[in-house]
Amino acid sequence: MQEHPISLDLACSALPELWSPRVVGQVNDQFIKVARVQGEFPWHAHADEDEMFLVLRGELRIGRAPSDGGDVLVRAGEFFVVRRGVRHNTAAAEETWIALIETVTTEHTGGEQTPMTRSIAAQMTEAAPRSSGA
Ligand code: NI
Repeated sequence: MQEHPISLDLACSALPELWSPRVVGQVNDQFIKVARVQGEFPWHAHADEDEMFLVLRGELRIGRAPSDGGDVLVRAGEFFVVRRGVRHNTAAAEETWIALIETVTTEHTGGEQTPMTRSIAAQMTEAAPRSSGA
């Protein structure tokens, strides 16, 4: 699938819209994804899958219930793993670029269908380059 090194920064810069992850690689049964995010993403959980967030640029707040450990602020160069079954949401005040490591079966809004839900198939499509000057 992958015959050359992948730049996470370049992959992020090619993403046409916020909150729309794209698959850029695979390791065993885990996808490597990138996303550009800003604002807030709906609360959800993944019953059987842990989810790793690596922040490349900006700051990501991962919200969890106080009984699950509460909110976590993840800065550029840091990662955090949300454990399976834990309800969470994500938010970023400024545009933030992240990489995700998720099991291939993970639905990014968990069991919730929201206007922001993107199917795995949609996440597999090539990201169109952002138009210059955008
Ligand atoms: Ni999630």
